[in-house]
Amino acid sequence: MKGDQTETHMPETNQAALDFLLSRRSRPAKTLTTPVPDRAALTILLTAAARTPDHGKLVPWRFIVLERPALERLAGEVMARGAARGETPERIEKMYRQFADAHLAVAVVSAPVASEKVPEIEQVYSAGAACLALLNAALAAGWGANWLSGWASHDPEFLSVALGLTAAEKVAGFVHIGTESSAPPERPRPDLDAITEWVSK
Ligand SMILES: Cc1cc2nc3c(=O)[nH]c(=O)nc-3n(C[C@H](O)[C@H](O)[C@H](O)COP(=O)(O)O)c2cc1C
Repeated sequence: MKGDQTETHMPETNQAALDFLLSRRSRPAKTLTTPVPDRAALTILLTAAARTPDHGKLVPWRFIVLERPALERLAGEVMARGAARGETPERIEKMYRQFADAHLAVAVVSAPVASEKVPEIEQVYSAGAACLALLNAALAAGWGANWLSGWASHDPEFLSVALGLTAAEKVAGFVHIGTESSAPPERPRPDLDAITEWVSK
């Protein structure tokens, strides 16, 4: 019977995949260096990311691969837009560095589709899931990777000018990918008991 705890059948475990999921962790973008995946290697990672759960097969996301010259251009656009927004020099510098110091990043764009069946929020969740799928694919392939945002990722004017996004689109994340130069310390993980409720009747 479904959910019967006396059931003896155990599914076949993909132990390598499970071990990866139980130990995975991001590598801070600041510690990422060259080499970065070439287009063929990145295409495999994007293919994995495009295998993300997507209610109704609406494909409510797309990828913008930012190679080095594009990242330098975005860094310059951060300076102009940061000043226009009245951002502090510290916040402008931090956002500038995020692009200026990067060698490869993928903007995962949330691009909701008009649908009577699938609420927009589900499509936005799917874009977030695509970010994690890309992050995990990169980590599983042995790259360092980090999912970043920052004020520019939420600024419609910046996104329109720098990335050509429409008013309906948003950046779910910038996923930076490269070679890790130092291993990060383990990050504290949530107390599972504090966030989990078991409901049996
Ligand atoms: C939507 C989103 C945006 C994030 N933006 C940033 C950011 O701008 N800067 C940052 O240091 N971490 C940011 N993080 C956190 C890191 O991506 C990541 O959660 C953290 O480094 C630990 O990741 P791990 O659980 O893979 O080890 C963001 C996470 C999410 C989900």
